Amino acid sequence: MNIAILGFGTVGSGVYKIIKNAKRQAQNLHVKHILIRKNKKPDLPEMTDSIDEILNDQDVDVVVEVIGGIEPAHQYIVDALKHHKHVITANKAVIAQYMDEFTRVAAQNDAKFYFESSVGGGIPWIQGLERALRVDDVNKIQGIFNGTSNFILDQMHRTGKPFNEVLMEAQQLGYAEADPSADIDGLDVANKLCISVDIAYDLFIKPTEELPIFGIRNITEDDMTHFDKLGMTIKLMGKSHQRGHEFDYMVEPTLYYGDTLEAHTRDNYNLISLIGETIGTLKFMGQGAGQLPTANAVIQDILDIFQGKEHLKREFKSTFKFQPNLTRNNYIVRSEIDCSQLFGDYAPELRGDYLVVHDIPVGEMHQKMRRVLQRDETAFMASLPTKKGGAAK
Ligand code: HSE
Repeated sequence: MNIAILGFGTVGSGVYKIIKNAKRQAQNLHVKHILIRKNKKPDLPEMTDSIDEILNDQDVDVVVEVIGGIEPAHQYIVDALKHHKHVITANKAVIAQYMDEFTRVAAQNDAKFYFESSVGGGIPWIQGLERALRVDDVNKIQGIFNGTSNFILDQMHRTGKPFNEVLMEAQQLGYAEADPSADIDGLDVANKLCISVDIAYDLFIKPTEELPIFGIRNITEDDMTHFDKLGMTIKLMGKSHQRGHEFDYMVEPTLYYGDTLEAHTRDNYNLISLIGETIGTLKFMGQGAGQLPTANAVIQDILDIFQGKEHLKREFKSTFKFQPNLTRNNYIVRSEIDCSQLFGDYAPELRGDYLVVHDIPVGEMHQKMRRVLQRDETAFMASLPTKKGGAAK
């Protein structure tokens, strides 16, 4: 099977490396082209700066898009599908924006569009979710979806190192995005959660302003010490619930008691859970970021195409409505301004430097925190577990 890799960054070079040192079924794969930027000197014989050379090469079966970002990635994916090439991408940002278009164009051109590596790096999460959906409605998803933020929080927790130092380590290890704000502000989680929700509920939702997203940029070493004293560990979570004809969706720092699997998810690992009607809770864990685990998931998709293994068909026909206030949580808030009046309807309770807010609808909480951030850009919040030993709702 002939492959063209678009982009030769962390993941692209990982795919090349695995195929070059191929073992087992990966020996059936051959890299024919690697697309590099215009004016960049090619240092491998497969390298070209011409996308047309790749699109017009009848021998190319699969195009692997790992350029990242929205354009030209979006255009290249559409063009490759229109040239009847199967497309595999690890690019969660472009899938979250254009999943419906890619699905439609792939079907029209009798091509496959697979993206296992885009969510959870090396974890077979999309495959697991699609498998669960063959039997069950999946009405809850929650996960540690970002390796960089998990690495940062885990290192801060275990070593006491400051935020910026561990962020730099995550960048050096190849976990972080080119612009790491997507990792620390929750946008990368938002993209991955959108993709998961699209599949789980068979609808198309884009990560927009409307969605409740709060990142970890403002967490301090003092916050870490405080949460530690409470016997809790903080994780950046993506969560969604579906009930009746409604679903919600949120990205937020979340506290877990020390005896939970989430609290024990270390380094660049991700832990993603689903709840299905008959299967109950299923948890998927593995390296959610990093060159070889992510490249491994790309290769798995290529092998699925090679072996004719079909993935779940999506129609986006569901009429579920986004309802930001579907669930309620307790939260802990730190701010230099007095927020007790703002949260007056939710039994605010001052505990040292922190305010605990009770049973507040999630969407409303995020809206109020946007107002707090306008006056105190260092403010932080996290949702609290509902009961000892249990994860947050
Ligand atoms: N920057 C991403 C992460 C890479 O840290 O999870 C994998 O999607």
